[in-house]
Amino acid sequence: MDDLVSLCARRGFVFPSSEIYGGINGFWDYGPLGVELKNNLKAIWWQRVVRERDDVEGLDSSIIAHPRTWEASGHVEHFSDPMLDCRACKKRFRADQLDEAGHCPAREGSSEHDFTEPRRFNLMLSTRIGASEDAASIAYLRPETCQSIFNDFKRVREVSRQPIPFGIAQIGKAFRNEINPRNFTFRSREFEQAELEYFCHPSERGKWFEHWRDERLRFHRDLGFAEGCLRTRPHAQEELAHYCQAALDIEYRFPFGWQEIEGIHDRGDWDLTRHGEFSGKDLGVTDLETKERFVPMVIETSVGIDRTCLALLANAYEEQSLDDGETRTVLHLHPAVAPIKVAVLPLSKKLAEPARELARELRRGMSVFYDDAGNIGRRYRRQDEAGTPYCVTYDFESLTDGRVTVRDRDSMKQERIGVGDVRAHLRERVELGS
Ligand code: GAP
Repeated sequence: MDDLVSLCARRGFVFPSSEIYGGINGFWDYGPLGVELKNNLKAIWWQRVVRERDDVEGLDSSIIAHPRTWEASGHVEHFSDPMLDCRACKKRFRADQLDEAGHCPAREGSSEHDFTEPRRFNLMLSTRIGASEDAASIAYLRPETCQSIFNDFKRVREVSRQPIPFGIAQIGKAFRNEINPRNFTFRSREFEQAELEYFCHPSERGKWFEHWRDERLRFHRDLGFAEGCLRTRPHAQEELAHYCQAALDIEYRFPFGWQEIEGIHDRGDWDLTRHGEFSGKDLGVTDLETKERFVPMVIETSVGIDRTCLALLANAYEEQSLDDGETRTVLHLHPAVAPIKVAVLPLSKKLAEPARELARELRRGMSVFYDDAGNIGRRYRRQDEAGTPYCVTYDFESLTDGRVTVRDRDSMKQERIGVGDVRAHLRERVELGS
């Protein structure tokens, strides 16, 4: 993990937010490579979950919703962790993580913390809207993106004229005042979720739960997670909320253990019923054929974009010993998520003109990095570390035979390809099939 965190900072994938002020716990910034990785992941999710289906609509709702939303959802009352404060060092700990509290740095004669009784600590971050300071102006930064999907269910269904079953999907920021943010971006206070709420008839909830479980597993497998690093963990009966018939986590084996990257939940009719009650609006639907009136059941898939990026990076990271006794650090990222698809590297600055021309041509369809400075071996290593799947080297022979060398990041094998064929050659290799 330490090596990965250091690579992420050194190469500009992810680093602490407000670093010049010493950082701010639980907040992270994605640099030039990180933002490309993240955008690629989100685009693949959107492509798979929204664009390739005619039964899913997209949404981009505001981060701040009407405060009643969070009363209806139960977050105001229940979204809390039990926590204890140490009276001596003033640090706060989650009651279920006391074994990690360590020694108290502030007590003399004893290294034990002086804990208060457990208290519930609401994890929603609040803010105020408008100029007044009264309670009515308090609002919350959403702790999950799905509640606005329920708020907008009626409107989206009407405008899209979707019959049940259908889904609404969105990607966006969520905020939780986590007591102990940790494990790099794994548990942060600001993060992104990609959520789908799929609305179906009560008789079909089992069928759609299985459908989405299989679809989501296929998505993660297609991203190239190594065999044995991905598993599902169905929730035991006693873990399920009363309205929930089934739930499972998709887990990745991080360097710090098996942890959830995505949750798939049968949420029943809880959300629409509650929002119906609190808003006074009827969120039920009528089956056009049978005329049956019912509140749809919801199957949810909720994946953390930051956690999946972290899993992708952890999965891709390798320090490889080479035959010549050297080691190289390489990120074996799936080309579809790799921040840079191809680096164009002329062997000499004298070849800059035709090499730049090739880079310009390739840029029309993919992210390209151009670098004509320094030793070619070192330039390859820098691209290996960034996870760039292909390097194209333009040499003096290219001027006469019209061919360039394409180097594969993982095998380090090189092949000569006609300059005019490079774009097509790469395009089919850097896309994720459906
Ligand atoms: N709407 C359901 C929901 O929000 P969740 O299990 O609380 O369910 C879903 O969150 C996903 O969001 C998790 O699987 C995880 O990937 C991501 N996530 C949750 N809390 C997070 C945090 N503090 N930091 C980073 N990602 C988080």
